[in-house]
Amino acid sequence: MIPETFKAMIVYSTSEVHHERRIALKFIRDLPPGDVLIQVKYSSLNYKDALSANGNRGVTRSYPHTPGIDAAGIVAESSHPAFQPGDPVLVTGYDLGMNTSGGFGQYVRVPADWVVKLPATLSLKESMVYGTAGFTASLSVLKLVEHGLTPDSGDILVTGATGGVGSLAVAMLSKIGYPVTAATGKTDQNDFLKSLGAKAVISRADITDSSERPLLKARWAGVVDTVGGSILASALKSTIQRAAVTCCGNVASPAFAATVYPFILRGITLYGIDSASTPMPLRQKIWRKIAGEWKIGSLDLLHTEILLEGLEQAIEKMMSGGQRGRTIVNLEN
Ligand SMILES: NC(=O)c1ccc[n+]([C@@H]2O[C@H](COP(=O)([O-])OP(=O)(O)OC[C@H]3O[C@@H](n4cnc5c(N)ncnc54)[C@H](OP(=O)(O)O)[C@@H]3O)[C@@H](O)[C@H]2O)c1
Repeated sequence: MIPETFKAMIVYSTSEVHHERRIALKFIRDLPPGDVLIQVKYSSLNYKDALSANGNRGVTRSYPHTPGIDAAGIVAESSHPAFQPGDPVLVTGYDLGMNTSGGFGQYVRVPADWVVKLPATLSLKESMVYGTAGFTASLSVLKLVEHGLTPDSGDILVTGATGGVGSLAVAMLSKIGYPVTAATGKTDQNDFLKSLGAKAVISRADITDSSERPLLKARWAGVVDTVGGSILASALKSTIQRAAVTCCGNVASPAFAATVYPFILRGITLYGIDSASTPMPLRQKIWRKIAGEWKIGSLDLLHTEILLEGLEQAIEKMMSGGQRGRTIVNLEN
């Protein structure tokens, strides 16, 4: 039986500096139109959610709004033949949680072509330990693999390594045999990163170069960069011949200074990663990888579970750069 109301985080915002978050009831009838109504069991916290929850108009145009770019749950109602009530499903990206009421509420209603059937070897909870962060890490890993890098190609650098995307990239690359160097700003997280499989842990300062030199000592066969800014610029200069670098994030800065030299003297490739609009066939391929050969054993180490009421503190921690691993949100209560 579908209730009339459900519990959700609602963000009220008049500007990027004036916002307020409350846990309150919303009406199912006020959800946007869509083919599939999903009772959300788990969601997860991503950087984009923290921005939306802080009134960022680049992510969410109008408020009041319920963030949550990830949702995993059970189909409650469907007007599309591909989905039946009772089906376990997940949604990540597209417009969910941006301008469409998101996974920080116990129900979402979305178009059928945003919905992925939950792979048989993943639980709803596990799917949200991955969520958009794990999906993005997997897209980055796939780029390195398709580029032709093998575990023998050389060291792979992961930046922002204790964060959501970073920690899953460290664990996933290590699981499939690549030697990972994890770069972090947190001096006390060596053991955590080693437990995820990192071969070496280095400090953020060690990979940040402020010189004008166009090239640095060749170190990295591949890079999964999650932070942007001068760290990405320095990583580009520190690559070996024909290296591959992926770029997905901007927590350090959206801007980076580069020259053509790593490209024309070392033949490197820079790949952009855009998870939200990943076409469905690639999306399904990635979820099969996550649930299959790339599935990692350290999911328990990697996540903290909270209720909607715990989001307030978790969002503040993420905005201050303090995220470690993944935070998943249990919406059952
Ligand atoms: N393109 C896409 O499709 C896509 C998808 C998902 C996420 N993203 C982006 O990827 C980035 C990471 O997302 P996330 O969910 O992993 O965020 P997160 O969990 O908050 O992790 C970010 C990590 O970056 C590091 N960091 C924080 N502030 C920094 C700074 N000022 N300079 C350098 N490093 C800093 C920290 O790790 P350490 O302390 O270990 O260094 C932090 O834990 C965000 O920009 C997000 O928007 C993009």
